[in-house]
Amino acid sequence: VQVDGETATNINQRVSRFSAVVCDGQRTQSETARYLMLNKPAGVVSATIDEQHDTVIDLLEQPWRHQLHLVGRLDFNTTGLVLLTNDGRWSRQLSLPESKLTKRYKVRVQKPLSQRYVDAFQRGVYFEYEGITTRPAQLKIRGEFEADVGLVEGRYHQIKRMFGQFHNKVLSIHRFAMGSLTLDPDLEAGQSRLLTPTELQALSMETP
Ligand code: URA
Repeated sequence: VQVDGETATNINQRVSRFSAVVCDGQRTQSETARYLMLNKPAGVVSATIDEQHDTVIDLLEQPWRHQLHLVGRLDFNTTGLVLLTNDGRWSRQLSLPESKLTKRYKVRVQKPLSQRYVDAFQRGVYFEYEGITTRPAQLKIRGEFEADVGLVEGRYHQIKRMFGQFHNKVLSIHRFAMGSLTLDPDLEAGQSRLLTPTELQALSMETP
């Protein structure tokens, strides 16, 4: 028996869904793990199937695209970094609250920003519907109407609702980073590429 090209000699050898296992010259499993980043355009659904609109999967061309699922979602009109994989263990790991992976967004709003927002985001904002207070979030003011927001969780419409407490309408949201992983500036909206081994390694160091 060979696992990933090496003869297996240890009864405790770990074998994953993606290990190449050959038994008496016969391949018994041959699934390849896929990890992609995509620059999501506005007007595309973060789902694998949708009856009305294009989904992020429809933007891909690979024959194996239908095996993929998303690591977290972005709203219909939110743009930027989306991760896709066929490795459920990896996506669960990244989504665990304990992983505290900071998702960073560039946000444009309708009314001027002030230090009050920074303090409120840091304290946490109460969401009546769920009866929860959001975890401390970083807000860096970049301009009168523009800020970077860093979140460690992903509640439904979280950024819009946080600014909603100030009756300040969010005009656009663009996710540019998840943990140490930043959106490749060479990817135009709608384009994707495989994560590099270095990017994968760095992400795995940030998860429990
Ligand atoms: N917060 C939102 O309101 N929308 C997103 O797409 C992401 C975070």
